[in-house]
Amino acid sequence: MAAEATRRIFFALWPEAAVARQLHALGGAAHAVCGGRRMRLDTLHMTLAFLGDVDAARFDAACAAADEIAQKLGAGDTPMLIDRLAHWKHNHIVWAGCDEAPAAVGALAVELAAALRQRGFQLDSRPFAAHVTLLRNARCGGELPPMAAFEWPVRDFVLVQSQLDPAGAQYEIVRRWAAPSRQKPPQGAASDLCERGGD
Ligand code: 2AM
Repeated sequence: MAAEATRRIFFALWPEAAVARQLHALGGAAHAVCGGRRMRLDTLHMTLAFLGDVDAARFDAACAAADEIAQKLGAGDTPMLIDRLAHWKHNHIVWAGCDEAPAAVGALAVELAAALRQRGFQLDSRPFAAHVTLLRNARCGGELPPMAAFEWPVRDFVLVQSQLDPAGAQYEIVRRWAAPSRQKPPQGAASDLCERGGD
Protein backbone atom coordinates (compact mmCIF):
# COMPACT_ATOMS: atom_id res chain seq x y z
CA MET A 1 0.00 0.00 0.00
CA ALA A 2 1.34 3.48 -0.87
CA ALA A 3 2.33 5.63 2.11
CA GLU A 4 -0.11 8.47 2.87
CA ALA A 5 1.15 11.95 1.98
CA THR A 6 -0.86 13.68 4.71
CA ARG A 7 -2.71 12.58 7.81
CA ARG A 8 -5.61 14.47 9.35
CA ILE A 9 -4.90 14.32 13.08
CA PHE A 10 -5.87 15.82 16.42
CA PHE A 11 -5.21 15.29 20.12
CA ALA A 12 -8.19 14.53 22.31
CA LEU A 13 -9.57 13.10 25.51
CA TRP A 14 -11.45 9.93 24.63
CA PRO A 15 -14.16 8.80 27.08
CA GLU A 16 -14.36 5.27 28.38
CA ALA A 17 -17.52 3.36 27.43
CA ALA A 18 -19.69 4.34 30.40
CA VAL A 19 -18.93 8.05 29.97
CA ALA A 20 -19.45 7.84 26.21
CA ARG A 21 -22.90 6.33 26.86
CA GLN A 22 -23.82 9.17 29.22
CA LEU A 23 -22.69 11.76 26.68
CA HIS A 24 -24.58 9.99 23.92
CA ALA A 25 -27.76 9.89 26.01
CA LEU A 26 -27.45 13.64 26.57
CA GLY A 27 -27.15 14.03 22.80
CA GLY A 28 -30.38 12.07 22.42
CA ALA A 29 -32.24 14.30 24.86
CA ALA A 30 -30.95 17.43 23.15
CA HIS A 31 -31.80 16.01 19.73
CA ALA A 32 -35.46 15.72 20.74
CA VAL A 33 -35.48 19.52 21.24
CA CYS A 34 -33.03 20.79 18.62
CA GLY A 35 -32.91 18.17 15.87
CA GLY A 36 -29.74 18.16 13.80
CA ARG A 37 -27.22 15.36 13.33
CA ARG A 38 -26.39 13.31 16.38
CA MET A 39 -22.74 12.26 16.76
CA ARG A 40 -22.20 8.51 16.89
CA LEU A 41 -21.43 6.93 20.27
CA ASP A 42 -18.03 5.68 19.11
CA THR A 43 -16.92 9.11 17.89
CA LEU A 44 -17.54 11.22 21.01
CA HIS A 45 -14.42 13.02 22.27
CA MET A 46 -13.06 16.28 23.67
CA THR A 47 -10.52 17.87 21.32
CA LEU A 48 -7.38 19.26 22.95
CA ALA A 49 -5.55 20.40 19.80
CA PHE A 50 -6.63 20.08 16.19
CA LEU A 51 -3.73 19.85 13.74
CA GLY A 52 -5.68 19.18 10.54
CA ASP A 53 -3.91 17.69 7.52
CA VAL A 54 -0.24 17.29 8.32
CA ASP A 55 2.54 15.88 6.22
CA ALA A 56 2.89 12.22 7.22
CA ALA A 57 6.60 12.84 7.77
CA ARG A 58 5.67 15.31 10.55
CA PHE A 59 3.68 12.76 12.50
CA ASP A 60 6.67 11.92 14.71
CA ALA A 61 7.12 15.61 15.54
CA ALA A 62 3.51 15.74 16.80
CA CYS A 63 4.17 12.67 18.96
CA ALA A 64 7.39 14.23 20.27
CA ALA A 65 5.39 17.27 21.45
CA ALA A 66 3.03 14.96 23.36
CA ASP A 67 5.96 12.97 24.82
CA GLU A 68 7.47 16.21 26.09
CA ILE A 69 4.26 17.42 27.71
CA ALA A 70 3.36 14.04 29.21
CA GLN A 71 6.79 13.95 30.84
CA LYS A 72 6.62 17.58 31.98
CA LEU A 73 3.14 17.37 33.55
CA GLY A 74 3.44 13.93 35.16
CA ALA A 75 0.77 11.25 35.20
CA GLY A 76 -2.34 10.82 37.33
CA ASP A 77 -6.10 10.52 37.06
CA THR A 78 -8.13 13.70 37.01
CA PRO A 79 -11.87 13.71 37.66
CA MET A 80 -13.63 16.03 35.21
CA LEU A 81 -17.19 17.07 35.97
CA ILE A 82 -19.47 17.22 32.94
CA ASP A 83 -22.08 19.68 34.13
CA ARG A 84 -23.01 21.78 31.13
CA LEU A 85 -25.17 21.20 28.07
CA ALA A 86 -25.16 24.16 25.74
CA HIS A 87 -25.66 25.41 22.21
CA TRP A 88 -23.36 27.51 20.06
CA LYS A 89 -25.46 29.54 17.66
CA HIS A 90 -22.59 30.48 15.35
CA ASN A 91 -21.85 26.89 14.27
CA HIS A 92 -25.12 25.15 15.28
CA ILE A 93 -23.35 22.76 17.63
CA VAL A 94 -24.89 21.36 20.80
CA TRP A 95 -22.19 20.30 23.19
CA ALA A 96 -21.57 18.92 26.66
CA GLY A 97 -18.70 20.09 28.78
CA CYS A 98 -17.76 21.67 32.03
CA ASP A 99 -18.42 24.98 33.67
CA GLU A 100 -14.78 25.00 34.65
CA ALA A 101 -12.36 22.46 33.23
CA PRO A 102 -9.98 20.88 35.77
CA ALA A 103 -6.70 22.79 35.93
CA ALA A 104 -4.79 19.67 34.83
CA VAL A 105 -6.87 19.41 31.66
CA GLY A 106 -6.54 23.13 30.91
CA ALA A 107 -2.78 22.90 31.44
CA LEU A 108 -2.58 19.90 29.14
CA ALA A 109 -4.38 21.73 26.32
CA VAL A 110 -2.39 24.94 26.73
CA GLU A 111 1.02 23.28 27.03
CA LEU A 112 0.38 20.78 24.27
CA ALA A 113 -0.58 23.63 21.92
CA ALA A 114 2.59 25.52 22.85
CA ALA A 115 4.79 22.44 22.27
CA LEU A 116 3.13 21.82 18.89
CA ARG A 117 3.53 25.46 17.81
CA GLN A 118 7.18 25.29 18.81
CA ARG A 119 7.53 22.46 16.32
CA GLY A 120 5.95 24.51 13.57
CA PHE A 121 2.35 23.24 13.69
CA GLN A 122 -0.35 25.80 13.04
CA LEU A 123 -3.24 25.63 15.48
CA ASP A 124 -6.46 27.49 16.06
CA SER A 125 -5.72 30.71 17.95
CA ARG A 126 -8.92 30.49 20.01
CA PRO A 127 -8.51 29.38 23.61
CA PHE A 128 -9.24 25.78 24.53
CA ALA A 129 -12.96 25.16 24.99
CA ALA A 130 -13.67 22.02 27.01
CA HIS A 131 -16.52 20.60 24.96
CA VAL A 132 -17.76 17.40 23.37
CA THR A 133 -19.84 17.96 20.26
CA LEU A 134 -23.11 16.02 20.54
CA LEU A 135 -25.16 17.48 17.67
CA ARG A 136 -24.28 19.31 14.49
CA ASN A 137 -26.69 21.41 12.39
CA ALA A 138 -28.87 21.82 15.47
CA ARG A 139 -31.54 24.55 15.68
CA CYS A 140 -32.36 25.24 19.26
CA GLY A 141 -35.39 27.45 19.53
CA GLY A 142 -36.33 26.41 23.06
CA GLU A 143 -34.57 25.42 26.21
CA LEU A 144 -32.13 22.54 26.27
CA PRO A 145 -33.20 19.75 28.62
CA PRO A 146 -31.83 19.81 32.18
CA MET A 147 -28.91 17.48 32.82
CA ALA A 148 -27.57 15.60 35.82
CA ALA A 149 -23.84 16.23 36.17
CA PHE A 150 -21.56 13.21 35.93
CA GLU A 151 -17.87 12.54 36.25
CA TRP A 152 -15.44 11.73 33.47
CA PRO A 153 -12.29 10.21 34.94
CA VAL A 154 -9.49 11.50 32.72
CA ARG A 155 -6.76 8.89 32.66
CA ASP A 156 -5.12 9.47 29.30
CA PHE A 157 -5.06 11.55 26.15
CA VAL A 158 -4.81 10.30 22.61
CA LEU A 159 -3.72 11.17 19.10
CA VAL A 160 -6.51 10.49 16.63
CA GLN A 161 -6.43 10.09 12.87
CA SER A 162 -9.59 11.21 11.13
CA GLN A 163 -10.82 10.08 7.77
CA LEU A 164 -13.60 12.07 6.19
CA ASP A 165 -16.22 9.78 4.79
CA PRO A 166 -19.66 10.47 3.27
CA ALA A 167 -21.11 8.40 6.14
CA GLY A 168 -19.40 10.67 8.72
CA ALA A 169 -15.87 11.01 10.08
CA GLN A 170 -14.05 7.78 10.92
CA TYR A 171 -11.67 8.10 13.84
CA GLU A 172 -8.79 5.85 14.77
CA ILE A 173 -6.78 6.24 17.97
CA VAL A 174 -3.15 5.94 16.93
CA ARG A 175 -1.23 6.79 20.14
CA ARG A 176 -2.04 7.13 23.81
CA TRP A 177 -0.30 8.96 26.71
CA ALA A 178 -1.05 9.06 30.44
CA ALA A 179 -3.03 12.16 31.41
CA PRO A 180 -1.29 14.79 33.50
CA SER A 181 -1.68 15.18 37.22
CA ARG A 182 -0.54 18.76 37.53
CA GLN A 183 -3.22 20.90 39.15
CA LYS A 184 -1.72 24.35 38.72
CA PRO A 185 -2.68 26.04 35.45
CA PRO A 186 0.14 27.80 33.58
CA GLN A 187 0.23 31.59 33.76
CA GLY A 188 -2.12 33.19 31.29
CA ALA A 189 -4.50 30.21 31.02
CA ALA A 190 -8.13 31.28 30.83
CA SER A 191 -9.98 30.77 34.11
CA ASP A 192 -13.20 29.74 32.41
CA LEU A 193 -11.96 27.28 29.85
CA CYS A 194 -15.44 26.55 28.55
CA GLU A 195 -15.83 29.94 26.90
CA ARG A 196 -14.47 30.28 23.39
CA GLY A 197 -15.31 33.96 23.24
CA GLY A 198 -15.95 35.82 20.04
CA ASP A 199 -18.84 34.49 18.06
P1 2AM B 1 -15.89 20.53 16.99
O1 2AM B 1 -16.47 19.25 17.49
O2 2AM B 1 -16.11 21.70 17.91
O3 2AM B 1 -16.26 20.83 15.57
C1 2AM B 1 -12.36 16.57 14.78
O4 2AM B 1 -12.78 17.32 13.70
C2 2AM B 1 -12.40 17.40 16.04
O5 2AM B 1 -11.51 18.50 15.92
C3 2AM B 1 -13.75 17.97 16.39
O6 2AM B 1 -13.97 17.75 17.77
C4 2AM B 1 -13.64 19.44 16.09
O7 2AM B 1 -14.29 20.29 17.00
C5 2AM B 1 -12.18 19.68 16.26
N1 2AM B 1 -11.72 20.80 15.45
C6 2AM B 1 -11.13 21.92 15.92
N2 2AM B 1 -10.82 22.73 14.91
C7 2AM B 1 -11.22 22.13 13.78
C8 2AM B 1 -11.18 22.47 12.39
N3 2AM B 1 -10.62 23.62 11.98
N4 2AM B 1 -11.71 21.62 11.51
C9 2AM B 1 -12.26 20.45 11.91
N5 2AM B 1 -12.33 20.05 13.20
C10 2AM B 1 -11.80 20.89 14.12
